[in-house]
Amino acid sequence: MKSNKPVSYIIVGAGNRGQGYAGFAAEFPERAQVLGVAEPRAFQRGRLVDQHHPEHVFLDWREAALQPRLADAVIISTQDSMHADPAVAFAEKGYHILLEKPMAVTEADCTRIVDAVKKNEVHFAVGHVLRYTRYFSRLKQLIIDGAVGEVVNIQHTEPVGFWHQAHSFVRGNWRNTECSSPMLMAKSCHDLDLIRWLMDVACERVSSFGSLIHFRPENRPEGASDRCLDCAVEVDCPYSAKRLYLDFQQRGKHGWPLEVITDEFSEEKVIRALREGPYGRCVYACDNDVVDHQVVNFGFAGGRTASFTMTAFSNAQAHRTTRVFGTKGELIGDGHTITTHRFLDGEKTVIDPRTADPGILGGHGGGDFGLMDAFTRAIAENDGSHIRSGPDEALESHRMVFAAERARLEGVVVHL
Ligand SMILES: NC(=O)c1ccc[n+]([C@@H]2O[C@H](COP(=O)([O-])OP(=O)(O)OC[C@H]3O[C@@H](n4cnc5c(N)ncnc54)[C@H](O)[C@@H]3O)[C@@H](O)[C@H]2O)c1
Repeated sequence: MKSNKPVSYIIVGAGNRGQGYAGFAAEFPERAQVLGVAEPRAFQRGRLVDQHHPEHVFLDWREAALQPRLADAVIISTQDSMHADPAVAFAEKGYHILLEKPMAVTEADCTRIVDAVKKNEVHFAVGHVLRYTRYFSRLKQLIIDGAVGEVVNIQHTEPVGFWHQAHSFVRGNWRNTECSSPMLMAKSCHDLDLIRWLMDVACERVSSFGSLIHFRPENRPEGASDRCLDCAVEVDCPYSAKRLYLDFQQRGKHGWPLEVITDEFSEEKVIRALREGPYGRCVYACDNDVVDHQVVNFGFAGGRTASFTMTAFSNAQAHRTTRVFGTKGELIGDGHTITTHRFLDGEKTVIDPRTADPGILGGHGGGDFGLMDAFTRAIAENDGSHIRSGPDEALESHRMVFAAERARLEGVVVHL
């Protein structure tokens, strides 16, 4: 049944992602409202409270989960290893759940979440935002419409970008498997999910290779210091934190990634963050262990195949690229446009699915907006078909990630 009331949300974890998703309510107050927040950090909590004036404010998700149900839905955007317990607790209370990716960092926890949402019959979406972008939606539709005939093989590449890797996966939150999750889970679970979605049949086996080749102490240049601010050779280093973050500061770009390293954006505060915090460290002197390049090969049902490459070593503006080889044609996605080639008559078509920036939720090529739009619609209309990244799809693609990582570590082909 369709409801005319805005869908009400509790935001659990008002960091970068939680704050972003809450922006949907600011943009579309007739469709969504933020009724509560749980966030231990004062600045992040205060920022959300100032914008949304929620009735319920908590310092910890557990306090919110102890209350009777306060809202229709919860957005869980805590860090990777803190997803499973709140997801299960809020499912038990009957909340619909938008859970950030990765669902959880162990397969047992992913299964536990899916069991809880199914048992409690709540709507559930995982933050696989790529499924909701215009670009990938169009690419998927072209395959459904038969643009390439039967899909035989997919090649997909994720060029992370040299400084994005340094920021998030060498100095930042996802640098260390023990503290967060492997690179394939932290970053590329989107891509494996996408490959599974485009292929549209079950994955049967995987192999994988990859390593941390560059961001290691033995590659530290002679004369380098532990912090870029003190470093004599910093000017020659492409990964200089001083260059990266002070450049953002001087250009007045206060969003991501600068907002991750500091809550205040004066030059003095940024320098202080680089002097004292994790983001000012030399990339060759961090406690990082996640890979900086990895390949995965997949065998899908019916003999279809796919390959995936993730690499840190790309330019900052590089986009994911996707080639789909079918029995009747080929499709090439360069991250902006999609080109199809039809074998029968050689016809080539170039499609540009981009539209104007959807505003506050323009992140991930409009995928952040697309996900919130779909999830909110699913609740308002009590119709789960709007959700493209539900429990079964997400569990399957997370299992592909766990299998691929095991294949890499053990040097084996893993059968799913
Ligand atoms: N979908 C995507 O494309 C995408 C992109 C980036 C990050 N992510 C994922 O989103 C999640 C959040 O990432 P982020 O960059 O917003 O991180 P963040 O660190 O900015 O935000 C997490 C927030 O959770 C809060 N928190 C910690 N303990 C809490 C508790 N007990 N109760 C309530 N809140 C608590 C932290 O204080 C922090 O503000 C991660 O799992 C990350 O992997 C997804």
